[in-house]
Amino acid sequence: MSDLLKATGLTKHYEVKKGLFGEPDIVRALNGVSFSLEPGKTLAVVGESGCGKSTLARLVTMIEEPTDGELIIDGKPAKPGDKHLRQTVQIVFQNPYGSLNPRQKIGSILEEPLKINMPDDAKTRRKKAEAMMERVGLRPEHYDRYPHMFSGGQRQRIAIARALMLNPKVLVLDEPVSALDLSIQAQVLNLLIDLQQEFGLAYMFISHDLSVVKHIADDVMVMYLGRAIEKGTGEKAFGDPRHPYTKALMSATPIADPNQRRARVKLEGELPSPLNIPAGCAFHPRCPIAEPRCAQDKPELREVDGRLVSCHLA
Ligand SMILES: Nc1ncnc2c1ncn2[C@@H]1O[C@H](COP(=O)(O)OP(=O)(O)OP(=O)(O)O)[C@@H](O)[C@H]1O
Ligand SMILES: [Mg+2]
Repeated sequence: MSDLLKATGLTKHYEVKKGLFGEPDIVRALNGVSFSLEPGKTLAVVGESGCGKSTLARLVTMIEEPTDGELIIDGKPAKPGDKHLRQTVQIVFQNPYGSLNPRQKIGSILEEPLKINMPDDAKTRRKKAEAMMERVGLRPEHYDRYPHMFSGGQRQRIAIARALMLNPKVLVLDEPVSALDLSIQAQVLNLLIDLQQEFGLAYMFISHDLSVVKHIADDVMVMYLGRAIEKGTGEKAFGDPRHPYTKALMSATPIADPNQRRARVKLEGELPSPLNIPAGCAFHPRCPIAEPRCAQDKPELREVDGRLVSCHLA
């Protein structure tokens, strides 16, 4: 199947001023990430806080321009402000309260994308908004309410509905359930699964919580300091991880099945700063199996048993 979205070498470096004089520092938030999304499939993007997940989300939606790299959407190179991009790729953020205008009623929040991008008249817009509200589990009387009158889970349903108003093909979900209670998380996840099937959506599902993405990921990309360090099917990445960092991440996640219990690998130390990424393999200072060459040679992603891993020792 052809790729809906193909990212090659996506890179984002931020310059930060160090006071009045001197060269600015460079935050290497994202350092050459490549992946593709297929219709109806979910790519889970996982990794510790600060590894570049949200930066990647902002590039894929062109909220920010990459420093380097290429993004092809539906066969066309993506540019910021591009109408085709906006209609094809939409984003849902972690905090639905921050992303919904508190002074706008739900109906008008949902109709706004149509107003800007479609020739629809007011009646058609309202019809479409009401249909989408019903689809995501909101009631008709919610049309005239403001965001503060909803629970967190309902607000996230509104954000999802808004993202779907233009019939996109790709949803970028940046920690879409992380701010919700556990019981509500499951409801919103189930809604996302239903919507994916109904509309054939491709998901880029970002989460630091592996137990959230485990059940819905077709493929997994594990990130460390702005790079993909392991990429493969969910089965391989979750069931039989090969990068020592993936192993540590996975072993920190509880597994329900007692027959599958595995040795816990502890992650030592903190994530180094993206201002100063360690030479060689960026993970070597924290790696339980690092050898001297790991501090010198940067491992490329290479195929190991049906997935890609960047580790000299995998
Ligand atoms: N505009 C910016 N200017 C400078 N540095 C930035 C900027 N945006 C992000 N960064 C830095 O880039 C790195 C990656 O940030 P990002 O938000 O992508 O991480 P994340 O994986 O989404 O983390 P979290 O799980 O906490 O959401 C961080 O070190 C962050 O401080
Ligand atoms: Mg983030």
